[in-house]
Amino acid sequence: MKVLVTLLLAALGILPAPVSYEMGDGVTQAKEVEVAEGKRAFTKWSAQLPAFARKEAYRITVTPKRVLIEANTPEGVYRARTTLAQLEKPYHCGVIIDYPRFAWRGAMLDISRHFRDKDFILKQIDALSEVKLNVLHLHLTDAAGWRLEIKSHPELEKGAWRVGDTWREWTSTGSRYGGTYGGFLSQDDAREIVAYAAAHHMTVVPEIEMPGHSRETVYACPEIGCNPDSEDLCPGKEATFKFLEEVLDEVMDLFPSEYIHIGGDEAGKRDWKDCPDCRKRMADEGLTTVEELQSYLVRRIERYLNAHGRKLIGWDEILEGGLSPNATVMSWRGTDGGRQALKEGHDAVMTPGNRCYLDKAQDAPIFEPEGFGGYLPIDSIYVYDPAAGMPADKLEHLLGVQGNLWHELIPTPDHTEYMLYPRIFAIAEIGWSPLSVKDSDDFRERATAMAAGLRERGYHTFKLEEEVGERPECNLRTDHLALGAAVTYATPWHRNYPAGRASALVDGRQGGWSYGGNWQGFLSDVDVTIDLGAVRPVHYVTATFLAHPSAGIYQPKRVRIDISTDGETFTTVSDLVGENPDGLYVPYGAPVGRDARYIRYRATRTKEWLFTDEIQVY
Ligand code: ACM
Ligand code: ZN
Repeated sequence: MKVLVTLLLAALGILPAPVSYEMGDGVTQAKEVEVAEGKRAFTKWSAQLPAFARKEAYRITVTPKRVLIEANTPEGVYRARTTLAQLEKPYHCGVIIDYPRFAWRGAMLDISRHFRDKDFILKQIDALSEVKLNVLHLHLTDAAGWRLEIKSHPELEKGAWRVGDTWREWTSTGSRYGGTYGGFLSQDDAREIVAYAAAHHMTVVPEIEMPGHSRETVYACPEIGCNPDSEDLCPGKEATFKFLEEVLDEVMDLFPSEYIHIGGDEAGKRDWKDCPDCRKRMADEGLTTVEELQSYLVRRIERYLNAHGRKLIGWDEILEGGLSPNATVMSWRGTDGGRQALKEGHDAVMTPGNRCYLDKAQDAPIFEPEGFGGYLPIDSIYVYDPAAGMPADKLEHLLGVQGNLWHELIPTPDHTEYMLYPRIFAIAEIGWSPLSVKDSDDFRERATAMAAGLRERGYHTFKLEEEVGERPECNLRTDHLALGAAVTYATPWHRNYPAGRASALVDGRQGGWSYGGNWQGFLSDVDVTIDLGAVRPVHYVTATFLAHPSAGIYQPKRVRIDISTDGETFTTVSDLVGENPDGLYVPYGAPVGRDARYIRYRATRTKEWLFTDEIQVY
C-alpha cells in the first residue's frame, strides 16, 4: 500500500521539502543508482511545468530492485542526487517527484566588508548546493574593500587593504586605506570558484558596485570620482565609463553568469550637484535630477552589458529616475521595489530586509554577537512568501528569493557560517518547495538535523535546538494603572515607527527583540504626558528603552519623571542619567509614593533614535 507521507518528511530529512513523495513498502536491494536523462516518458510528463522547473525537475523511483533517477537535464539529475544524499541507506521504496517553485534561489556573501578567501567560498558552495540553492551572489566591491583582481587596473589592489581588521576599528579611525587588513580574489581564484559552483549547478553572480559604495574605487582611481574624496563614481566623466567597461570586460570574461549585478544602492550623490562634469552631463542629456543622472549611468552600463549578451541586475534604487529597459530588480527595501518592477513588466528577485537579511540577530540579541540591528529568527524567514502581495498576472517575472549576509559586523569565517546556517535553509525551502508542503515544525526538525550534520563536517552553525526565542515580555499583556489612559505627545513619534500610535505606550504591549513592532520610535527627545483620569496613589513608574547602536538607536542620555494632580503644577520625582548608551534593553524607572493624575515622562536623546515600548505605572 502506498501512503502519502508529507508527515514523515521530518524523519526522511529532505530539505527543501520535495513536491511529492509517495512511500512504498520495504527497502531496495539495489546497489547502483540508474540514471535516465532526457528520456521521452519524463520529458512528456514534465512538459506541463514552466521551462525553469522542467530544467531542474526529477523523479526518483525506488523499488526493491532498482533506484532510478529520471530528469531532463544534468541539472535535474544533480538535484535528484542531492535528495538521495539526504536519505538514509538502504533507500526506502517509493516515488519522489520534485521541481522548484522559483528559478532563482540565492545566497549573497559580502566579501568586501570582511574578506573571505577562495577555500572558504568553495566550502560554502558545498553546503549551499546541498539544499538546492543555485545562485551565489558575491558582493565583491564596497567602500571597505575591492575584492577582485582586475588586470587592466592593477591599482585597484590599493582599495583592497584598509586600516583596521574590524568594522569598528576601521570606521573609528577614519575609514582609511593602505593598512594591513584585506585581500582579494585573484582571477585564478575567481575561475576556480566559478568552475566549482558550476559543477554544483550553482551560478556565481558577481556584483561590482556603482555608482555608490565606491570610495575604495575612487581611492584607487581618483580620476573617476567627482573629486579624490568622493564616495560615488562620477557619471559626468567619460573616464568613469571607460573604467567600468574595462572592469566589466574582465568580470564578464571570468563570470559566465547571465546576470551581472551592478549594485546601485544608497548612492549619496553628494558631489554630483557641484561637479562641473556632472552638471555638464545633466545639461547635455537634459537630466533634471541626480536620480536621473544615476539612471543615465545605469542605462549606459545596461546597454554595454546587453551588447555583450548579459543582463543587468541591481538593488531597487535602480528604479529611481527611470528603470533601464531590460533591468532586473533586487528588492531589498521591503517588497515595493519588486512589486513595482513586476508591474512594469520587469523581472525581480525578492530579498526584503525584514525577511532575508541574515546580518540580523537570529536569537535573543542579549546572548548573540553584535548584529546590525534587528532580530530575524529562522521561523520569521520561513513564513515569508515572495509571491505575497505581488501582481498575480505578473508572477512569471518573479524570479525568486535570496538571503543576504552583509558582513560589516562579521569579522571571522566561523561567524559567517554561524549567521548562514541554518537560516539559509529557510531561504532554500521558500525558493524550492510549493506552499502546500511547507510546515514550520517539520522544517525546524529537518533544519536542526541538517545543521548538526554540517557541524560534524566542520561548519560552525547556530544550534537551533538551543534557541531562546522572542523577548518574553512581548508575549505578555502587562497590566498597570495607565492601561488605556490618554497620552499627550509634546514630541511626536516618527511616522515609520508608530507602533500602536497614541495608545502605544499604554496598551500593555511591550516590544520584541527588534525595533518596530510594539516599539515606538522617536527621532527626537520623548516628551509625553499620561492622564490617569483621576487622582490616584502612584507607587512606581518605569519604561524600557532599546538600543541597536549599529542602526543608530541609543539609550537616552537623561530621563525625567514629573507628576501633577491638576495638570498645571508638576513636581519632578525622578531625574536619571543614562549610563550606558549602548545597553540593549534598559529600564528607566523610579518610585513615586504620591498621589497623582498626570505623569510626564521625558527622555533626552544621546543621538539619532530613541525607542520605547510601554510606560508602566503602578
Ligand atoms: C543594501 O542592503 N544596501 C542593498
Ligand atoms: Zn561628477
